[in-house]
Amino acid sequence: MCGIVGGISTEKVRNFIIEGLKSVEYRGYDSSGLALVINNKCEVYKTIERVNELDKSFESSFDSFLGIGHTRWATHGVPSVKNAHPHTSKSKLFTIVHNGVIENYRILKKELQAKGYVFKSDTDTEVVAHLLEKEYKITSNVLEAIRLTIKQLKGTYALAILFCRDQNHLYFAKNRSPLLIGHAKKGNFLASDYLPLLKTASDFVEIPDFHYGSLSVSEIELYDINGNSIEFSYHQTNLKQEALEKNNYPHFMLKEIEEAEQSVRFLIDNYFDGKKLLFDKDLIKTLKDAKHIIFLGSGTSYHACLTGARYFRELKKNVDTYIASEWAYYPYNNSKDTVFILMSQSGETADLISCVKLIEKQGSKIITITNTQGSTLARKADHVVFLYAGIEVAVASTKAYIAQMTALVLINAMIRNELNIFEKLEEAIVSQRFIIKDHEIIKKVAKEIQNSSSVYFLGRGYDHDLALECSLKLKEVSYIHSEAFPGGELKHGPIALIEKDVPVIVFISDHSTSDAMRSNICEIEARGGKIYVVSTQELSQEGDTYVIPNVRRFLSPLVSVMFGQYLAYYVALYKNLDIDKPRNLAKSVTVE
Ligand code: F6R
Repeated sequence: MCGIVGGISTEKVRNFIIEGLKSVEYRGYDSSGLALVINNKCEVYKTIERVNELDKSFESSFDSFLGIGHTRWATHGVPSVKNAHPHTSKSKLFTIVHNGVIENYRILKKELQAKGYVFKSDTDTEVVAHLLEKEYKITSNVLEAIRLTIKQLKGTYALAILFCRDQNHLYFAKNRSPLLIGHAKKGNFLASDYLPLLKTASDFVEIPDFHYGSLSVSEIELYDINGNSIEFSYHQTNLKQEALEKNNYPHFMLKEIEEAEQSVRFLIDNYFDGKKLLFDKDLIKTLKDAKHIIFLGSGTSYHACLTGARYFRELKKNVDTYIASEWAYYPYNNSKDTVFILMSQSGETADLISCVKLIEKQGSKIITITNTQGSTLARKADHVVFLYAGIEVAVASTKAYIAQMTALVLINAMIRNELNIFEKLEEAIVSQRFIIKDHEIIKKVAKEIQNSSSVYFLGRGYDHDLALECSLKLKEVSYIHSEAFPGGELKHGPIALIEKDVPVIVFISDHSTSDAMRSNICEIEARGGKIYVVSTQELSQEGDTYVIPNVRRFLSPLVSVMFGQYLAYYVALYKNLDIDKPRNLAKSVTVE
């Protein structure tokens, strides 16, 4: 989604902003913009082209020690130059970039229009620029104008603000949209993500919600909504710039699929000391004592939750799983004794953040499983489990899903006190390596299905969870319509979709359901469907499309999912699509 980069420095910042915007490109965007303060004037340039074009087309002699940049993912108003950020206030006093959604912008816009403010864009953001100017004209104080402005805003915002008459300060405000300060000897910087800051800053400051402030080259001032000056502390990050390199891979998605083993190993390295598992004892106690557990997640993370719930049910726990955005509006089972497990690669998914507010209200415990240290969901949790999967750059989640599954397996092993889990995980790794080494057949399947208008995935139990994930992957990166069904549901409707040559991919890795799945296959073949069976060795039959070395039933999602990941990748490759940045999608979904 949208990205923010800004800086005030003893060195010129144009290059820092452009490079910073490039480092958040992977999150998905449809337009970009840049503003630099030059001689008490904000020079602004916006484009619907890529960041490279932004740099090429913006007057090359323009540079400054103070500036902001933005990549926009349209929410209010179509992608266009007029709607791209930065937005400027009526008399050009303020120029701002914004991530988030101002929910009450319509009312505010009407009020401002009545006072003579003319709007040039269809965005919610422009309201903020004009409000800042309006308040400044009353107070003649920039920080106070920011405070009075954000008091009127309902919704989410990360704001980087230039007051064009002040070359010595970069201003900011934040509520429920990520924004970080990066501190270095040569200056202070802002970004919506660590990545733009990694090369430049070594110390970071989290900006709490409903806070605002200013940065000069050497100082950071932070205030709460009542105008009180707030103490802050610096922290460091273990994220590395190298994660942004493709290392000879043509796409991040392929690189990340093939980092599956690394995802499993990094978790083991971080949570196993050779003798015992190292998850926080309080976390394990919370889970052991829990009478009721609710898993919440979105997209791929929701699919990991589905399997996670099965693990906990096997521990005789009462477990439910909900798509976060659904639970946020229908918060069933809301007893104080329920423990919530929030699954989120980014830790910033707005749908989950909305759930947190409800969970906090009812006083239940939150466990966040995330790949992003310092993220909002990590900060809001009573217990955090980090995935240590490294930055996932491709929009379609692959290695993070494997890390999510591994984390769930390890947590369960600690609850059961089961140390032979590592042998079982080693078996899974062997199977993953097999797929990485030998997936010519998957490429062949991709070639065969690339022009299909629909593809269906079928499985039961664990295999259904992974069928859902494989189906999501395929639609995300190849734009082919795809759905996943439990085998048992086929006859209750979906079989009507089966006609000659419709591709149906069937997963079989579970003894208890393999016979039923074989019957499903007969039913599909009888109607002319084109079956591709992905089975584990001991359950395989002659004619199966792809046979995976044996893996425990409960670990099959960690392995068989790679079939679906490769399949999606190769279909997108053969269709010549933008694999790492599929259309309309964003890496971190920070608006509801
Ligand atoms: C799928 C994908 C999305 C995310 C979903 C949740 O490949 O990436 O479906 O899984 O947007 O994101 P997180 O895990 O960051 O909460």
